Amino acid sequence: MKITYYGHSALGIEVAGKYILVDPYISPNPLAGGIDIATLEADFILLTHAHGDHIADVEVIAKRTNATIVANFEIATYYGNKGFATHPMNHGGSWTFDFGKLKMVNAVHSSSFPDGTYGGNSVGFVIEGEHKNIYIAGDTALTMDMKLIPMRTQLDLAILPIGNNFTMDVEDAIIASDFVECDKVLGMHYDTFGYIKINHEEALRQFFQKGKDLMLLPIGDSIEL
Ligand code: NI
Ligand code: MN
Repeated sequence: MKITYYGHSALGIEVAGKYILVDPYISPNPLAGGIDIATLEADFILLTHAHGDHIADVEVIAKRTNATIVANFEIATYYGNKGFATHPMNHGGSWTFDFGKLKMVNAVHSSSFPDGTYGGNSVGFVIEGEHKNIYIAGDTALTMDMKLIPMRTQLDLAILPIGNNFTMDVEDAIIASDFVECDKVLGMHYDTFGYIKINHEEALRQFFQKGKDLMLLPIGDSIEL
């Protein structure tokens, strides 16, 4: 499994020969200026919620790639009505796609489209891939529901928001990594705008002190699991 960070909460995941794009907010992000969305491959686009900083590039990319948009029922219906291919899910449900098994899990956050349209509830995702399992928390507060994840899935990587203000901060993300029983964490949802700027060295130090590994990838960089 190869995971590429496209800035903010946007991720590219290559698994089982398929390309998954998560929360594509790339072209409006000045920090992601080096990423050309016209070159991104996508068989599936996974959306955690309907906020603008997660869906900005969905329609352009889905139109070009014919990717299937996987999201909660309300978001899937919204894009389905516009003619896009969708797969609706809801909390607690899972589905076996050709890239692996995807489970939709709880996230504590809101979810409305930029124009105010109801966007259902925010979610996170657990992907059980060919050889590795990952958790994408989405925008969320620290929540006890995270403890449910390792009861079903042994994780190899947790992708957690760490930017504070709209989501967990670094300290809560450390507790979250305890809850999901995964010490290997990829940080997301930080630095993009003023409210969520973080001190990288301090964040890395805090994780290190707890015996955990926080990765803060330069935008465009990848890790292999
Ligand atoms: Ni949000
Ligand atoms: Mn957000």
